[in-house]
Amino acid sequence: MTARELRQKYLAFFETKGHQRYPSGSLVPYDVTGKLDESLLFNGAGMVQFKPFFRGAATPPHPRLTNSQKCVRTGDIESVGDLTHLTFFEMLGNFSFGDYFKKDAIAYSWEFMTSKEWLGLDPARLSFTVFEDDDEAFALWSEHVRAAGFEPEHRIFRLGEETNYWPAGAFSNGPPGPCGPNSEMFYWTAKEPPPSGPYTREDYLRDEAAGKWLEIWNDVFIQFEWKGTLRDPERPASGYEKAGLDPLPFQSVDTGMGLERTATVLGGFQSVYDTDLFQPVFAALERATGYAYGADEGRDRAARIIADHIRTAVFCIADGILPGNTGRGYVLRRLIRRAVLKGQRALGAEKPFFHLVYEGVVEALGDHYHELGDLRDVIVETLQNEEAQFRRTLVAGYDSLLKELASIARDLIFRTGISAFLNLDSSGEGEIDEMLLHKETRWLNQITNHQEFLQVISGCWDEIEHAQSELPKLEGERAFKLYDTYGFPLEVTVELAAEAGIEVDVEGYEMALKEAQERSRGASEMDTVYGSHSGTLVLSVASDALPVSRFVGYRFTDHTTRLVQISPIFDEENRATGRFQVSLAETPFYAESGGQVGDTGRIDGPGFAFHVDNTWKAGGLIWNDAELADFEGPSVVGMDPPTIRQLLDTGVFFKDVRATVDLARRRNICRNHTATHLLHAALRAALGKHVTQAGSLVAPDHLRFDFTHGKAMAPDEVARVEEMVNAAILAATPVAVHEDLPLDEARKAGAMALFGEKYGDRVRMVQVGQFSLELCGGCHVNQTSEIGLFKILNESSAASGVRRIEALTGEGSVEWVRGQVETLREAAALLRTTPGELPTAIEKTLETLREERKRLERMRTQAVDSGADADISAVGELELAVQGLRDGDMKEATLIADRLAEGKPARVVLVGLAAEGKLTFVCKVGPDAQAKGAHAGNLVREIAKLAGGGGGGRPDFATAGGKDPAMFDAALAAAKGLLEAQL
Ligand code: SER
Repeated sequence: MTARELRQKYLAFFETKGHQRYPSGSLVPYDVTGKLDESLLFNGAGMVQFKPFFRGAATPPHPRLTNSQKCVRTGDIESVGDLTHLTFFEMLGNFSFGDYFKKDAIAYSWEFMTSKEWLGLDPARLSFTVFEDDDEAFALWSEHVRAAGFEPEHRIFRLGEETNYWPAGAFSNGPPGPCGPNSEMFYWTAKEPPPSGPYTREDYLRDEAAGKWLEIWNDVFIQFEWKGTLRDPERPASGYEKAGLDPLPFQSVDTGMGLERTATVLGGFQSVYDTDLFQPVFAALERATGYAYGADEGRDRAARIIADHIRTAVFCIADGILPGNTGRGYVLRRLIRRAVLKGQRALGAEKPFFHLVYEGVVEALGDHYHELGDLRDVIVETLQNEEAQFRRTLVAGYDSLLKELASIARDLIFRTGISAFLNLDSSGEGEIDEMLLHKETRWLNQITNHQEFLQVISGCWDEIEHAQSELPKLEGERAFKLYDTYGFPLEVTVELAAEAGIEVDVEGYEMALKEAQERSRGASEMDTVYGSHSGTLVLSVASDALPVSRFVGYRFTDHTTRLVQISPIFDEENRATGRFQVSLAETPFYAESGGQVGDTGRIDGPGFAFHVDNTWKAGGLIWNDAELADFEGPSVVGMDPPTIRQLLDTGVFFKDVRATVDLARRRNICRNHTATHLLHAALRAALGKHVTQAGSLVAPDHLRFDFTHGKAMAPDEVARVEEMVNAAILAATPVAVHEDLPLDEARKAGAMALFGEKYGDRVRMVQVGQFSLELCGGCHVNQTSEIGLFKILNESSAASGVRRIEALTGEGSVEWVRGQVETLREAAALLRTTPGELPTAIEKTLETLREERKRLERMRTQAVDSGADADISAVGELELAVQGLRDGDMKEATLIADRLAEGKPARVVLVGLAAEGKLTFVCKVGPDAQAKGAHAGNLVREIAKLAGGGGGGRPDFATAGGKDPAMFDAALAAAKGLLEAQL
């Protein structure tokens, strides 16, 4: 049975038990009322969306529901790559809301699992657990187990709250919500036959730990609300009605069967990746990278990680989650990066490949989850952009990391004695073999091919470990520096180092990060990572101390400071382009973050000047993309790296400089940023508190705000929001910025923080009167009236469940209004009226147009009447009317033919039209003429043939076309002879 069949069977089985199918909830944990469940990052179980139903706070469409829920659980992310762990999976569930309870739930589970008509699992391979004092569940399972010929004591085991109360740890630290004791079902997957005869709880626990029993299903008997308050340890617990749990209004059932796992069992597979859910994904991976799953165990692991992560990524994006630096977005970003890294390192994917694997996911799951296909463009584009950005970051940091790792390895070899290393065999060619050949340590210092060196060396750590217990480690400070300078992410450093057999001191990294954050506090609490460009050569004045830039741009937009780092950008031929990345000690330039774009402006020094066209940051450094505009020295463009290095070594650029932000542009940015806060507040007031920011762009010429909301806004809602924002602007409210506020205090004041966003202990809070209170590191106006007119341009969909508003302020909206007025004026001028009279004038014009059209129709009929002017001749007892037209159209020709034929039963009418290089013939034959043998279709065909064309039709009416205008007259003249021949 395939997984797809299993999904259908499950839903069908529960339909036969009176359940209604219900769609999967979003991976963003919204409940059925549209409220976000703040206790969770992702939807990880079928019951999440149904919490209001269990509580009796909302009424379900039916007391029995069944569905297949999309789930993401990231707790075991490090284990993904083995044969069983997944971050994305589907959970099949059946739910009762105050309807059936334990007895039926257990009976249904037993029937579905063991009945030949359904899964037909062998009862000998099943075991069950119940909560320790749930005698009822024990007794209910016992009936089935005994009927199948087994001793209940050998098959059903009582366990504690860690495994048999859901959610796990509900009494101590689990997420709050509806909960209850549960009963899990296990399948015997080991090669040896399942246990028979006496089998104790201890036997069961041992075999379960050894992975022989695989959990496939869990029935939860929902009865209580766990409020999240800790149980008083002094108060003894009684039964499972322990302190901290409030009874719910009724008893319910929530079950969850793992689709992938159960399909694995049913298919007799060793791994979830062998099921039909993954085959198309591996096929797409092979098309994208050339690697065929199954070819090599080491690389299979990487392929599995990619296959898991692509499913999670695709489903996340389809549910409106976008890669970012916080919360769900950060998890998504990490998954994408990890998969890309695996593809690049293990499968040799040199070009972006991850978005191509999407096709496999759609093939496997698109028939059940239509959003995957519907949102193809958004998904593919998001994956593609994220991979491209990540690859840029990698290029920049990679060489530095290799150098670091090689130097660690070298160092350790020196210290541990060379013996293990020298035992390595020489295999192949290259400098490493040369070195091995000489068996000399001094060669170690001359190695320049770090990658090759690391490959060779990673094989001998085990032997070195015998010599010395200490394994090689990359210092945290070093790992941090890579992140700080290049935006090289820690997890990537860890992965790459692990490949060389080297560990990273993650604690040391965290410490270095914290120190740097403290040093750069005031720059911005919201830490954003940006990749720097390739081919950089970074020089800093004080290279020992970790350089940091301090942002002073809240107060100054013109500031005298020092240049601390400069790195030229080279082209493909490795020649200087005249473009640099520079960094200032104190900088008035705002670095792109929190949606606000980076500042532009200029940097002037003695004898040189830079145009700054963007500002961004990597960890503690704020970088400017800059073009050398003036330089009193040699032309920098086209120099090669050594020459430019010499130039930089002279220190000519490391002088006092004056940094000036483009103020007009910055002011427009401030207007749009404050307006974004007002818009956020107005949306929450107008639409409800479920609205949260899902992304924003604050640019000088417009703003874009993405927010969570399930449906399109009605026009009057848009108008109301716009009105609220404009009212707040007109109130001329001062904007207060509270710097360096303890996070607790800001929260207490009710500041809006982005859910899942990582904030430091101290934050910056931006307050607009009573209207808005948000944590924010961006730039704002001093007083709302500076914003000017706020104008919403449109409201549209950004992703499923996410809406997007684009709007203008200040100069942008004035310009927009001017443009609109200009258009109106032009339109009015065309109609010789004033803009105010335009609707009336247009109405009038349309009326005239309608009348003109009618008149035209009338004239046409008249023209036809007067145009019917045919050559009439007698052919036997019949009459032949032939007319040639040199202009007009088919409609006119037909009308004329009608007119000529009207009231003449013995007439044959032929109208020819020669216009626009084409010939058309229309023929009508009256009933008397037909009786004499005249046939319109045959006649017109013969005539058209003469003009190089063809056609034909009925005896009474036919048309045909010709190609040769020169034959027009001759064709018409032939009509008479041809007609005679027909009679
Ligand atoms: N909520 C339970 C689980 O996740 C059963 O669906 O295991």
